[in-house]
This record gives sequence, structure tokens and C-alpha cells, in this order.
Amino acid sequence: MLHFTPPHSWMNDPNGLVRVGATFHLFYQHNPEGLEHENLHWGHAVSSDLFAWTHLPVALAPDELGEIFSGTAVVDRDDTAGFGRGSIVAVFTHAARDRQSQSLAFSTDGGVTWEKYAGNPVIEPPEGVVDFRDPKVVRYQPDSGDPWWAMALAVGHDVWFYRSVDLKRWERVSVFAPERPWPGATIEVPELLQVPVIGENRTEWVLILSVHERLPDGSITGEVLWAPGRFDGLTFESARDMTRMERLDHGTHFYASTGWQNGPNDVPVLIGWMDERDRLLNPPPQPWCGRMSIPRELRLRSSAGGYVLEQRPLLACGVFAASHQTELPAGRESTVASLPRVFRASLRFDGLPDGVRVVLQSEGDLDERFELAVRGPHLSLEANGRNQAGPSLIEVGRTDPFLVEMIVDTGSIEVFVDGGARAASFVGGIGLAPTKLEVANASDLSGELRIDSSLTRDNDLQR
Ligand code: FRU
Repeated sequence: MLHFTPPHSWMNDPNGLVRVGATFHLFYQHNPEGLEHENLHWGHAVSSDLFAWTHLPVALAPDELGEIFSGTAVVDRDDTAGFGRGSIVAVFTHAARDRQSQSLAFSTDGGVTWEKYAGNPVIEPPEGVVDFRDPKVVRYQPDSGDPWWAMALAVGHDVWFYRSVDLKRWERVSVFAPERPWPGATIEVPELLQVPVIGENRTEWVLILSVHERLPDGSITGEVLWAPGRFDGLTFESARDMTRMERLDHGTHFYASTGWQNGPNDVPVLIGWMDERDRLLNPPPQPWCGRMSIPRELRLRSSAGGYVLEQRPLLACGVFAASHQTELPAGRESTVASLPRVFRASLRFDGLPDGVRVVLQSEGDLDERFELAVRGPHLSLEANGRNQAGPSLIEVGRTDPFLVEMIVDTGSIEVFVDGGARAASFVGGIGLAPTKLEVANASDLSGELRIDSSLTRDNDLQR
């Protein structure tokens, strides 16, 4: 597989994404004892390219203050907390049944073993506040003077900002109240990254939030939102009208996303949790539940309508092998009948191919279908089967050229349009075993389709 999964058992949010020298650490919400979302620990893995991972022992386990919920890890170069110069400090939520508080743990051996701070918790919830979690901590360097630690914390419907000099004593300094997609939406996992602006020698702050809502039928829906803005280490001010945020991923399986500020190419890299509960068949198809999305490099593109966030899949060199290329003549249907198990499909048109439909189809027991269609200036994506995505309209973006990239791994599909200016992630259904890719080109443009097969072990099973 191309995707990161735990060695076994349950996984949800990525946590504590930190680069220490050439090593990228990935911690994650993990129940080492089962396939259910409970008994949360921090699992741990390391990589040098965000593709090949080495699993390490579980880093943090529940204790008398509660389970270990999401949070950040930082390198304390100046030893502000007194745990040792260069120690890695995890700032996370301790979650008891009706009480969430923020705590610290530290590692002085490069992240392998961890000790919890004896003075935990370092931030207690105010009276009556239940949803109080997922601290994101950054080292903020003002133009002049000493740096400090800034924290964004998800508190009910809002994001609270705190400041500290030593990671232990925190002062609340501001509140950011975003517009909500649903009236009762709860915010989770705030993320703050400095993202480079393409073609300019500067960065902008980007705030990323995961929001979820319990719908009247009892089901839960969630999505990830983003906004560019100004951040002075105390207050976040959106660069858009007030508090409006945009959807970062248009699929149904991308949540709780967080990133490394400095990826392998010194650009921030974001990953999200792809929830696989829906596809837990009986018996489950594998001994784990939950995967991380393909890592995405983030860049901002200036456009007349404001910033566009480009999310480009980061796949280590050599992941894909030589490809198969097909012309897509105007007004015709083209079919690729023999597909590798894991592959990337790239489409290119020199203009807006109004009326093109791309269909991934599986046959036999799994009669699944995934369709991307261009209708005027919009795209629709439909995934049928268990993880019904429903049609969702997405703007096409630039059409000079018009580019679509689909990454199909065992059990998931991620779609990137217009160089990653639009992204959509799905788990299950068709990703399990597509047997056929059809392009019905009802447009008046001819295009090109390329299939790159993956060199991972899964392709041993190639049909
Ligand atoms: C988001 C989330 C976080 C919380 C964690 C618990 O998926 O609900 O808010 O810290 O998962 O596993």
C-alpha cells in the first residue's frame, strides 16, 4: 500500500508531527488493543521521506488523568520547559469521561521513550466547558524580541489562543470564532502552518480546522476547513471576509488533518485521517482500521479571487513505474480494461472538457463505481456502495491545461484537480479492486490519459 497504517488495531488522528533533523515523527491516536475508537494512546512511527515508515513502540498511554487525545510535539531548543536542551515536548489532551485538560510529556532520547510531566495538567478547563482539546503549539518569533510559545486550542465552537514562555504556564490571549457549516458544529484539531506563496519570497499563515456535527438521524458528518490570515502570535485574523472558511477536501474521508511545518522539500506537508469504519466488513479485510492520507505539500497560489491552497501529493521518487498512455479522442469512449492494483491515473486536456466522465468500475462480487464528471465549470464526484459520497459540486479551477490526478490504493481513492487546488478523498468501495477505467469523452476536446502503476508489494497481485 502507498498509505500509512498502524501495524494492527485502531488508528485515528495524526498527532505530534515533528521533524527532528532528517527524521519525521508521526504519532497517532491509537487503541493498541482493538479495532474500536477507545482506550486512546499515541502510536509512533518515523520516516525520512514520509513514505517508508518504521513503527516504534507506543509513546504515550492513558493514566489517572484520562486517555491521550490529540496534540502537538515541539523541539524545545532553548530548554524553556527545563526538560533538557533539545528535548521533544508533547503537548496533548488528557481526556477523562467529562473533563478534558492539556498536559505535557517529554523525550530526551530523540522521541523513543517518553515521560509525562509531574505537574500535569498544565491547562484546566474552565467551569462547564466540556469540549476543550487538541492543542497545536508553535514557536512564534516576533520581528524583534524573544520568541514565545503560541497555542491554538479547540473549545466548543471556537478556537482559543494561548501564550506561554515555558510550555507550563499558559495565558489565554484571544478567541477566533469561525463561521460554522452547521449551527451546532464542534471544532477539533486546529492547525496553524506558514505556507509559502508561489513565485513570491514569503509565507502566509493558514488556519485549518476540522469540524463535525451530529445530524438529526444520529450519524456524524465532518469536514476540514481552511483560511489564510494574519497571525501575530496572539490573534488570528482571517484574510477573507471575517470568519469565512473554505473546504479543504471535498471527499468523505479526510479529517483531523495536521502537518509538518518543514517537509522533505522544506514546504509544509499535510496529512489527514481516513476513517475506515465504514468498510470494516465481517471479517475485516485487514487487522487494522484507519489509514493516513497521502501526504500533501501545501503552497498558496495568488489569484484574482484570493489565495488558492494547492495540495500536491508527495510520493517518494520511484514509487510509480513506467506508464501506459492513451489518447482520449473527442466524442469517443476509451477503456483501460487491465488495471494494476495500485496506480495513479492522470488526465490532461488543453481546455475545459465539458461533458467528460471518468468511471472506475469493479465487477463481480464488488459491483462498485466511482465517477468524476465535468459539467460546465463544475466537477461532480460520485462514489457508490457503502461509502456513499453523494454528488458534490466542485469548481473546476484552471483549464490551461485541465489536470486530474487520481491515486487508487487498496481500499481508497484520492483525487487532485488543477495541481491540487481541489482535493477529494474516499475510502472503500471501488478502491478495493477496480477492474476497468472508462473515459466517456463527450467534450469537443481530445485529451490524454496516463496510468502509472505502483512498485509496492501489492502489485504482486496484479491481474
Ligand atoms: C478528532 C478527535 C479529536 C480528539 C481525538 C480523540 O477526530 O475527536 O478531537 O482529540 O479525535 O481520538
